[in-house]
Amino acid sequence: MALLPQSPRIGRRVRTIALVGIDGSGKTTQAHRLAAELAAAGLPAVYRRNAGGRHWFGRVAGLVGKEDAEQLLGRRGMLGVESVLRWLAIARTMLRRMIRRDIAVMDRYAVCQYASLRARGARPAAERRARLAYRLFPRPDVTFLLAVDPEVAHERIERRGYDHESMDYLWAATKAYESLPEYRDFVVIDANGTPDEVSAAIHAELAAFTEPAAVPAARRTEPEPLQACP
Ligand SMILES: Nc1ncnc2c1ncn2[C@@H]1O[C@H](COP(=O)(O)OP(=O)(O)O)[C@@H](O)[C@H]1O
Ligand SMILES: [Mg+2]
Repeated sequence: MALLPQSPRIGRRVRTIALVGIDGSGKTTQAHRLAAELAAAGLPAVYRRNAGGRHWFGRVAGLVGKEDAEQLLGRRGMLGVESVLRWLAIARTMLRRMIRRDIAVMDRYAVCQYASLRARGARPAAERRARLAYRLFPRPDVTFLLAVDPEVAHERIERRGYDHESMDYLWAATKAYESLPEYRDFVVIDANGTPDEVSAAIHAELAAFTEPAAVPAARRTEPEPLQACP
């Protein structure tokens, strides 16, 4: 792709970019692409995965003859493990970002845990505990919500072939993201198109992000104070 004309400004304004959304929305695909494209434009951008271990436990579950991670650990057990593992993953990402002064392109962030808890019907106390534990992590400079129709996401997940999600869950997860208090700060990207179309939409929003007046205030988070990139 063409180098970003505003890339030095992006580097000064944006140090953490989070991609969030339901399974199959294309987070991993787009986070890899974005990190590679920003790096190709000369920025110290790196892909960071903030996984919660559900996929890994799903594979272990398969090995011992269980259907999925929840059958292995129980619904609440898996939510607890996921909350801890994602916390550790984000802590590692933030530590690396501090030490290396990277631009972190994050595949999932704290809000994904709150959405997971809501979508899986956890009690409000569980989300309160998670929010207490995760409050130490700063808000990303920009959070892209990849908004995709659950049917499209379902079809992609089936095509990906290594896990399964029910339509009920994908609908619940969509509603969960929309119900989060953080939703108003998300930059919502239509993620139903081709990877190139989604990528172009992300780049257009990122470019707009360097022109504060051009971006509706309600749709983005305030950037951290300017920090020079090495
Ligand atoms: N825009 C897109 N159009 C069609 N397929 C896509 C698109 N983005 C990703 N995919 C494919 O769909 C599957 C799910 O994408 P992935 O990036 O793993 O989503 P997520 O990380 O949000 O679960 C993968 O097989 C990926 O190659
Ligand atoms: Mg993924």
